[in-house]
Amino acid sequence: VTSLPVWPRENADWARYFDTYAADYERLSFGSAGLAYVGAREVDVIAAELRSRAPGRVLDAGAGSGRVSRALAQLGWTVTALDVSSEMLRRVGRDVPGSTTVQGALGRPLPFADASFDAIVSVRVLKYVDALEVAIGEFARVLRPGGIAAIEFTNRRSLARFGYRDAPTRLVSMGEAQRLLEDRGLRVVARHTGTRLPQPVWRWARDPARARAAIACERVVAAALGGANRVVGARSAVIVGARV
Ligand SMILES: C[S@@+](CC[C@H](N)C(=O)[O-])C[C@H]1O[C@@H](n2cnc3c(N)ncnc32)[C@H](O)[C@@H]1O
Repeated sequence: VTSLPVWPRENADWARYFDTYAADYERLSFGSAGLAYVGAREVDVIAAELRSRAPGRVLDAGAGSGRVSRALAQLGWTVTALDVSSEMLRRVGRDVPGSTTVQGALGRPLPFADASFDAIVSVRVLKYVDALEVAIGEFARVLRPGGIAAIEFTNRRSLARFGYRDAPTRLVSMGEAQRLLEDRGLRVVARHTGTRLPQPVWRWARDPARARAAIACERVVAAALGGANRVVGARSAVIVGARV
């Protein structure tokens, strides 16, 4: 595979879509300098949130091939990786020591008891889930009181929406994302802004020199639009909710 497969027609077909390119997912999505920078920034934000807590049980919801799970296992967390794609999960099982893999779908009841996890992370996943309210309600249920959910949302009010035309995705604004958490007992305690530059810029930045230029450009845009706690214009943000 040299480019991303064509979007599925329906929400329910994401499993097959991700099965098809599981073997190439990390190379195609993060394999050049600019894309790697954006991806690493996301993982760093999640790792920083979990590093500040005693390691425990973490659910990586929509774990993919284990990009985030690997970082969390290195920090001493015991990872349960859930995904609809068996091909993705096979890679987590192979590469993440001590992990448990569970094939299942967000947006439906999760196969875990109440308060099973000390933390939940979910990166680049929820736009594929139509029943977002159910997914977040289930996060709140399986998280123990005091536990945190660090969830990445793609921002509908950004250029990102043009990247998903014709795809059966559901994008929300950052305000809607926060309300989804708050209404289900996840008090928002932090927000981390993702990149403000469009994806084609990061694809163009395929070597280190171009990546440096893109990063410099991003700093200028970020300075104009506000710092890490302002989400205006950001393609995405990681929103952290604490279970009350
Ligand atoms: C873009 S990948 C992100 C993987 C990983 N979180 C990362 O950041 O690299 C999206 C993942 O979400 C999974 N996914 C899509 N819809 C899902 C659903 N309803 N329930 C669980 N996983 C889902 C896909 O199979 C895929 O592995």
